[in-house]
Amino acid sequence: MKDDVRKYIYGALVVFVIGLLAWAGLVYVNACGMTLTCLRGQTPVQGTPIPTLIPATLPALEMESAPAASDSDTCRVAAQDLIGAWVEAGSSETEAFQFQDANGKTCEATFEDVRPLFVNSNLWYSGSLACTSCHSVDLAVSPAQLDLSSYDGILAGSRRADDAPKGTDILGGGDWKSSLLYQFITESHPDIPGHDAALLSGLTVSAGTSLPEANVTPTP
Ligand code: HEC
Repeated sequence: MKDDVRKYIYGALVVFVIGLLAWAGLVYVNACGMTLTCLRGQTPVQGTPIPTLIPATLPALEMESAPAASDSDTCRVAAQDLIGAWVEAGSSETEAFQFQDANGKTCEATFEDVRPLFVNSNLWYSGSLACTSCHSVDLAVSPAQLDLSSYDGILAGSRRADDAPKGTDILGGGDWKSSLLYQFITESHPDIPGHDAALLSGLTVSAGTSLPEANVTPTP
């Protein structure tokens, strides 16, 4: 009776140990297969063909001193001064006009330099609409019946009811500071969409080319 109990206990222990070993073996074989050199647990070393450390053999950059602003050919000018100079010079479509740039250089430009101010978006301030997205060639929808998309449209002026060839002169008859155009790009009209204070950002643009001193027409 006593021996029987002992037999059972030993039997159970043996079965337990055998089961444990069998389980461990199963896990091992399952993970590593039938091999004794199991590397599964180690992080594999991965050799990539791309070296991650680039040898420091890049040539040193040559530092060339930038030319001083006054030496370069480009002129920087406030947008309203550029349009103003064009208007005061007679607002020609093709003839060049002169203006003083922000650095006091005498420069020359044409209507080609002025037109982008009316047709480019994102120019007067970040995200701004082009003037022509409102003042378009289609007078039926254009506010103030003003077409700023072309030379002829600008010269024809505003309030051209029934597509009249001429409307209200927006260029002040050549007197820039008294013109409607000057008023509408230098004064804030909070009640008019497209003409709130954001437009008066003091936009400066690169335009025209600087003239060599000899070509400058002396102002009387
Ligand atoms: C969001 C639309 C919009 C944009 C963009 C816009 N305008 Fe206007 N503009 C108007 C409206 C609206 C009026 C007022 C129309 C009225 O009074 O009937 C106006 C009026 C004017 C007038 C006065 C015309 C007159 O006879 O009273 C001028 C000049 C003018 N705009 C020029 C410009 C210029 C230059 C730009 C670009 C820098 C510009 N506009 C951008 C909507 C716009």
